[in-house]
Amino acid sequence: MFSRIQFKRAIFFRPIIANSNHIYNKGLRRPFSTSLKLQLANTTVNFSEQQPQHDTSQEPKTHFGFKSVPEGMKETLVGQVFENVATNYDVMNDAMSLGVHRLWKDHSVRTMAPGPGTKLLDVAGGTGDIAMGFLNYCKEIHGDTSAQVTLLDINPKMLEVGRQRFAKTPYHNTSQVTFEIGNAENLLSIPSNSYDVYTIAFGIRNCTHIDRVLREAFRVLKPGGRFMCLEFGKVRNPLISSIYNLYSFQVIPIIGQVIAADRDSYQYLVESIRQFPSQEQFAEMIKKAGFTIVGEGWEDLTFGIAALHSGFKL
Ligand SMILES: C[S@@+](CC[C@H](N)C(=O)[O-])C[C@H]1O[C@@H](n2cnc3c(N)ncnc32)[C@H](O)[C@@H]1O
Repeated sequence: MFSRIQFKRAIFFRPIIANSNHIYNKGLRRPFSTSLKLQLANTTVNFSEQQPQHDTSQEPKTHFGFKSVPEGMKETLVGQVFENVATNYDVMNDAMSLGVHRLWKDHSVRTMAPGPGTKLLDVAGGTGDIAMGFLNYCKEIHGDTSAQVTLLDINPKMLEVGRQRFAKTPYHNTSQVTFEIGNAENLLSIPSNSYDVYTIAFGIRNCTHIDRVLREAFRVLKPGGRFMCLEFGKVRNPLISSIYNLYSFQVIPIIGQVIAADRDSYQYLVESIRQFPSQEQFAEMIKKAGFTIVGEGWEDLTFGIAALHSGFKL
């Protein structure tokens, strides 16, 4: 296992890992993009032009990127984003992060270090990076084919891309992977105390009520179970922070424009990252939901651009 410094060096300086043997990379080729545009028939509509269908002026507000929207609208807006981008998710994700997201996810699975027979619930699992990395790890490290993952996402299209990806693997049509449509804020189909590990990677910041997501995570985990959240964080080093801000706001939208002809999606992405709580604030929220955290409760990855949070249901 890497020490923190070794890990930071490794993931910051390592070039794109097209031929890497990392567990996470096997079976992976998917993109990320978040389009703010709705394709309605042949018409493209900017979210900023959307008008609510009813009087929402009295509703509590939340953020959607840097925009303030009625709480009831966010889920729909986020849903439309991911519906739009599902088929392009891989390419854009790699382009935007220069492949580094793979290292973060690989590190998350290695930190989880699941034992044989582990039952994982991967919420907001999208096209299945964490789920795939988890099953590959169990197979390669333990020769285990009894580990199981439920890949849950609110968006049928993202889940369908994941399903197609798994269809090309030995996990296809086995009890090792199941797909469920569901909302992280209300895991209706998931019984209490039923999973060993709960993961949510780059998903929680898209949810309207983070506290509800955390409460549900606590409920569905078995006593002794582990909550793990990979999410963007705050960069503390002022020099790195300036470079990161410049890259985020000046370069990423251009990448979106050039590769996906969609600047707005990338603008939304960088804005949504800035709206997410700091590592300290999020660790407090995890504790408030009932989890016990070890140490400070998170590990910064690549100078805090991302952070891996963890808590136990004891
Ligand atoms: C940035 S993608 C992350 C996907 C995957 N976990 C990964 O790391 O590549 C965010 C995912 O969160 C899902 N999502 C957003 N809000 C959700 C909610 N309330 N419940 C479940 N999934 C949600 C989206 O549909 C999307 O698939």
